[in-house]
Amino acid sequence: MSFSEKIISWYTKSGRILPWRTTKDPYIIWLSEIILQQTRVEQGLPYFHSFVTKYPNVQKFADAEEGDILRLWQGLGYYSRARNMHRAAKRVIAEFQGNFPTRYADVIQLPGIGDYTAAAISSFSINEKQAVLDGNVFRVLARCFGIDLPINSGEGKKVFKNLAQELISDSVPGLHNQAIMDFGAIQCKPKMPLCETCIFRLECVAFNENRVFELPVKTKG
Ligand code: ADE
Repeated sequence: MSFSEKIISWYTKSGRILPWRTTKDPYIIWLSEIILQQTRVEQGLPYFHSFVTKYPNVQKFADAEEGDILRLWQGLGYYSRARNMHRAAKRVIAEFQGNFPTRYADVIQLPGIGDYTAAAISSFSINEKQAVLDGNVFRVLARCFGIDLPINSGEGKKVFKNLAQELISDSVPGLHNQAIMDFGAIQCKPKMPLCETCIFRLECVAFNENRVFELPVKTKG
């Protein structure tokens, strides 16, 4: 079994059921991903439900008063995220006739959307083969493959991105991305990783070399 087949098989049995995982709507996926930046899932969930209820589509979001969006955002912090979302929604109305884009190359042009969010939206909505790289993915890859390049260095980012893109499933890249993020969040945790029950025990470089707590490497500053 390939890395991807293994992690998807793990996910099918042990992954979390989360409300944004049952939709292909790029607008709903975008809402969830921006809310979840710098925010834990448990904290983000009630906000996700409020936003979907109040603004069920991008037209409603674009038409909203910014003050109302910021009020609903209260408690999440990083208010520039909410302001960028409003600008992005208005751009979707003006430039995409109200159809939230799905392709990586289109989505990445919108304000507040970087490589991670564009990869998430395009892979979850249309199965575009774009590997996501977030803190969870960095940790899983650093440990499994024993990569000690700093995840916040230019070279490190390049190496991790290339590896993630090599590993991603050809047939179900969206599912693969959800799986590797959940694997990092639930199994390959930062402080209390569940190595004893891990599907990668035999091949995980960090586990076999006793370096689990040394990886990933991050440089200060
Ligand atoms: N954190 C950020 N995006 C996520 C997602 N799609 N599923 C679970 N946790 C996440």
